Amino acid sequence: MSHTDMVVIPNTPTLVAEENVEKIRAAAELAAKEAARIHRVSLREKKEEKKDRLPVQGEMFETDKGEQIILKQKLGDGAMGHVFLISKDGRAMAVKTEKFSTGMLPMEIKVLLSTMREKCKHFCRIHDYGTIRREYNYMIISLLGRDLYRLRSEMPTRSFSISTTTKIALETLESIEELHSVGYLSRDVKPSNFAPGLRDFKEHKTIFMFDFGLAKKYVDREHRKLKSRGEVGWRGTVRYGSLNAHKRLDLGRRDDLECWFYMLVEMHVGELPWRFLTDRTAVGKAKIHAREEGRPNFFFKLPQQFETILKMIDGYAFETRPEYRQMKKLINEIRVENQCSDRIKWDWQTDESQYSELTEAVSVMSDMAILAEQGATNVTDRNQG
Ligand SMILES: Nc1ncnc2c1ncn2[C@@H]1O[C@H](COP(=O)(O)OP(=O)(O)OP(=O)(O)O)[C@@H](O)[C@H]1O
Ligand SMILES: [Mg+2]
Repeated sequence: MSHTDMVVIPNTPTLVAEENVEKIRAAAELAAKEAARIHRVSLREKKEEKKDRLPVQGEMFETDKGEQIILKQKLGDGAMGHVFLISKDGRAMAVKTEKFSTGMLPMEIKVLLSTMREKCKHFCRIHDYGTIRREYNYMIISLLGRDLYRLRSEMPTRSFSISTTTKIALETLESIEELHSVGYLSRDVKPSNFAPGLRDFKEHKTIFMFDFGLAKKYVDREHRKLKSRGEVGWRGTVRYGSLNAHKRLDLGRRDDLECWFYMLVEMHVGELPWRFLTDRTAVGKAKIHAREEGRPNFFFKLPQQFETILKMIDGYAFETRPEYRQMKKLINEIRVENQCSDRIKWDWQTDESQYSELTEAVSVMSDMAILAEQGATNVTDRNQG
């Protein structure tokens, strides 16, 4: 049924008093005008739907401030959008984009504005954000190094040493604590959502947390903790999801920590027992097995403090404030026992990466050269079309 059909034209009564005829005619005219308006709106919406898209490498757009931004190189392909390298005010930065209709960036922007307001250490700065012609949304953020998933995959052993793992554990735990302290849950803690900063910016010793597409406030305006909403459906990524996520339950701070725990085991051991399983139920069962009969095998390559940490997380209720400090203490204990040096050198740090991590392509290739190479379409005129 079209919008035109939906408009109700007043019924004409069989016997109409003379003075009512004018009223009825006016009402019918009004209804016809409304039908035409609805028809125009639906045509416009259809046209806009067609324009809903992701930008491509080499493309250029203009910000609300009139700045021209060229998408130099794709840095990441997310489930919802693409991340590109850009140069702004003479500095390399990243821009995350999503289709206009996706609508997850506004939450990410809210989170990053909060972490920036509170001067949190483990989050990108947000430099600008906006929408391009109802086609895509963008946010310009600090540029980071390669994410932890890629860095681990590039290791010959596909695992990190105890020194790097425990240092990552401390950095990422601090970032989760900071996120919780500004009132948000991540609900998608996983290696590909963390990355070290760049040496070029003297941020290589810090691990940053990003991707807040699934983030959620867990406190209300009066800073009161929200109650569990019971069963709400799956949130997050199957491999790192908490047992509560498998049960489709509402997630709290403890669930972010359970994901964090799986992530650490994978980093140090090189794999999780459920790595080849794709079925959610089977993965859930494997996570329970790792706590029961599979326990000795699961913890075989891990310091005993890992067992204590999982026991703590498993003991928390939805509302419990995790004991971040106690966990940090346990991780530092592992560092002492393993004689890890205070001067951190990440496993991925080679002599070459002592200097610039911004590759030649990044620092040398000029905007003009990229435009020429890509045959870029200029889509800066937001008022067009
Ligand atoms: N600031 C940044 N600097 C450098 N690379 C980045 C930055 N932000 C994201 N990336 C890269 O882009 C990838 C995708 O980004 P992000 O996780 O934000 O997108 P997403 O669509 O929400 O991802 P997914 O849903 O697949 O987890 C990251 O895993 C990372 O490799
Ligand atoms: Mg991600």
